[in-house]
Amino acid sequence: MNGAKTRMYSRRDAVATLAAGAAGIAALGAGARLVGAGGSDGGAARRALGQDGTPTTAAPTGPYTLPPLPYDVAALEPHIDTLTMRIHHDRHHQTYVDNLNKAVADLPDLAALDPVTLIQRLDRVPEEKRAAVRNNGGGHANHALFWEIIGPGGGGEPTGAVGDAIAAAFGGFAALREAVEAAGLARFGSGWAWLIVGADGKLAVTSTPNQDNPLMAGVADVPGTPVLGVDVWEHAYYLKYQNKRKDYLAAWWNTVNWDAVNERFAAAQGG
Ligand SMILES: [Fe+2]
Repeated sequence: MNGAKTRMYSRRDAVATLAAGAAGIAALGAGARLVGAGGSDGGAARRALGQDGTPTTAAPTGPYTLPPLPYDVAALEPHIDTLTMRIHHDRHHQTYVDNLNKAVADLPDLAALDPVTLIQRLDRVPEEKRAAVRNNGGGHANHALFWEIIGPGGGGEPTGAVGDAIAAAFGGFAALREAVEAAGLARFGSGWAWLIVGADGKLAVTSTPNQDNPLMAGVADVPGTPVLGVDVWEHAYYLKYQNKRKDYLAAWWNTVNWDAVNERFAAAQGG
């Protein structure tokens, strides 16, 4: 799959790449950090080729691409172990990206959207593809957020405007922690716990099953814009914490990047 010789471009692919790139730039301009679509490697245009150089039916490799982890896989030790980070990012997130690309392979208008916009427009996805886009588009968007709002040197008390808003909405960080951990523990099976900015502009804690996202209109019980989210799928913690989701959640706060959460909070309020 590497090298120019293995890349074939069609006019439609080129248009999709340009459109996806433009969408990503627009999202950045709006303060959104979840872009991921229309990657800089021209991913939309790549297609698998067989040994004789003819296209195969293998999974398309774009337009959506796996964002690189913005720190080393070992950077969150001891709170999140290296192997979990590697498998979680390199395999699980990659699989969501691959399956999303398969789902939108024949839907160029939707494939031109950045992933956060895409998951807000599930009603436009043909019914036979909707579950795949919901699950894998959600998986892509959720994980892209997750890698960004955690990082090395994280943890501690919330800072800045979001720290003030947390104090106002919950009475303090301890109460926020309690609410998020309760939401994560109460989520039966797989899902996410979130801190969101609701339609009323106020912070709230909620959770979603599977790879749903609070931005999915008509899907999320409590809609809103996530500013922080914690993955409570077993793949996020099982190697180190086994069945002790509570211990994982308690340790996870030590990785939160409050600067990144503040950026999302500012963007959510502005948008
Ligand atoms: Fe995950």
